[in-house]
Amino acid sequence: MSEVHVYDVPDEWAKRAWIDDAKYRTMYKQSLDDPEAFWGEHGKRIDWFKPYTKVKNISWDIHNVSIKWYEDGETNVAYNCVDRHLEKRGDQVAIIWEGDNPNEQRLITYRELSEEVNRFANVLHWHGVKKGDRVTIYLPMIPEAAFAMLACARLGAIHSVVFGGFSPDAIAGRIEDAQCAVVITADEGLRGGRKVPLKANVDAALKKTSTVKHVLVVKRTGGEVDWTPGRDVWYHEAAARVSTTCPAEPVNAEDPLFILYTSGSTGTPKGVVHTTGGYLVFASMTHQYVFDYHEGDIYWCTADVGWVTGHSYIVYGPLANGATTLMFEGIPNYPSMSRFWEVIDKHKVNIFYTAPTAIRSLMGAGEEPVKKTSRASLRLLGSVGEPINPEAWEWYHRVVGDHRCPIVDTWWQTETGGILITPLPGATKLKPGSATRPFFGVIPEVVDGAGATLEGATEGNLVIADSWPGQMRTVYGDHERFVKTYFSTYPGKYFTGDGCRRDSDGFYWITGRVDDVINVSGHRMGTAEVESALVAHPKVSEAAVVGYPHDIKGQGIYAYVTVMEGVEPTEDLRKELVAWVRKEIGPIASPDLIQFAQGLPKTRSGKIMRRILRKIAENEYGALGDTSTLADPGVVTQLIDNRQNRK
Ligand code: WT7
Repeated sequence: MSEVHVYDVPDEWAKRAWIDDAKYRTMYKQSLDDPEAFWGEHGKRIDWFKPYTKVKNISWDIHNVSIKWYEDGETNVAYNCVDRHLEKRGDQVAIIWEGDNPNEQRLITYRELSEEVNRFANVLHWHGVKKGDRVTIYLPMIPEAAFAMLACARLGAIHSVVFGGFSPDAIAGRIEDAQCAVVITADEGLRGGRKVPLKANVDAALKKTSTVKHVLVVKRTGGEVDWTPGRDVWYHEAAARVSTTCPAEPVNAEDPLFILYTSGSTGTPKGVVHTTGGYLVFASMTHQYVFDYHEGDIYWCTADVGWVTGHSYIVYGPLANGATTLMFEGIPNYPSMSRFWEVIDKHKVNIFYTAPTAIRSLMGAGEEPVKKTSRASLRLLGSVGEPINPEAWEWYHRVVGDHRCPIVDTWWQTETGGILITPLPGATKLKPGSATRPFFGVIPEVVDGAGATLEGATEGNLVIADSWPGQMRTVYGDHERFVKTYFSTYPGKYFTGDGCRRDSDGFYWITGRVDDVINVSGHRMGTAEVESALVAHPKVSEAAVVGYPHDIKGQGIYAYVTVMEGVEPTEDLRKELVAWVRKEIGPIASPDLIQFAQGLPKTRSGKIMRRILRKIAENEYGALGDTSTLADPGVVTQLIDNRQNRK
């Protein structure tokens, strides 16, 4: 391994930040020694209608997995993110919205946010939505996405946000699984000057599912849309008919706040369920300490609200803290490669949180697009979604942050609700590429394949040994799948699906997924999902999908495809299959490379040996390991000869 550059905590950071190293150590120790007392205290950071008397009630026993935090407390997330700020900061900007077009922006104060959320909640209520009902949100990055989420929370309804890049089939599956009666969408989205046909996608999705009674349509572009009278409702028309007051429904700490679908190693995406009290405590506390958020800071997370990062660190964490959160409709390279940095200068952003894939793609354009901007307002940088390679880390630090801004490399997952392993900028020295140390209350462990816990500097699979308040509670409608996926591999521990290394300082280095999940531009994909989309094509007989290293995306999608008897494996078919997968799942699942194969390497019992396919896709066919158990070892030579990733 090449030598690791270490960046010490700058003195002024140690002095001014919420948490310095001594405080980190004391608080971390308290959080492990007496989690009841620790989380009992920190639970008070949000307002409760009925205070909790019980803090933590956890069983990870596979016969009875049950996770409860603050279980007898009652609160409301929208109350905490909006109402409680009105007295002190009604005129403070809550959301800065920056449009895809640089000439479009909106500044929304907490008072305006309150009116918008109340109004939206009344529109939902008017369309029959009540506590416990599920609502699908399929919106672009416009303020209405935040209003809609908070409106659901206000009523105690459960939102299921579906990323605007997903296809009609993917939307239909998610609507069906959660049995949603209302969908909120927009006529069209706008990204990089191009229109995204959101309403048309919903129309197509609703041909495949019958649970939906109403579609609320926000007018974004004014583009033409098809209309189903009785079912479809213009949001602005409905909004004009309701008042701007709607009481915040008291909900139990363990009532669900949202469902968010995420890919696993097998089957269809799982509906990850997050509940109310523990989630909000954890999202707001991590937002404050990890980003060292202080009153008056302008904070920008570039994620989409369709992913968990958008839920926890655009909407819920920042707004619970009374912060000013920036919401960006566009993309990093439109209208120019300087867009991110221009937005930072325009709105005087202090804290900036983005993904390694964005950094790598901007690196490709060189320093000039960054250096021509000031970025003087920046104080802290963050990274999330995939391992950041040290080269990208150094560029982010040197070119974007002018050597001045610490970088917090935050490791977490949809399932964890909030950040679990991360530097705290006033406390933790930085090593490029390492997510460093656990947040309060988080106990990472490294285990080997047999489940033995490894001590000291070591490498293995990452598990977490005890619950934290932001943990997911179940898979919607399938608790057994929850237990099986996360608690059965290493009984008594939460299995993350990630591999990691722990160095001699006790710092964690996440090495990537150890299961059949791949991470493409920070988007999580199950290889099984792409495979099932491919085999649904009439000309495809079999398919096996693996990830391979990709300079910008982190991982690319490599598909091995065998075609039906009599079908010619042509270049046109290759294009047809890419288009097919885009249609079935969405553009983020497009295979980067397709290799037509005469056969796939299988064991005598018929199991595809994915290890071999991974190696060939990585162009590392010299290190295939043992192939003696293959039914037909000749297959491998053919696969190597026709490999698509030649370097
Ligand atoms: C997977 C979770 C967390 C919100 C966005 C992704 C990978 C995430 C890091 C990081 C290395 C990371 C892991 C994890 N990942 N952050 N800082 N360093 N890997 O959420 O879609 O649920 O994906 O993303 O592999 O398991 P997600």
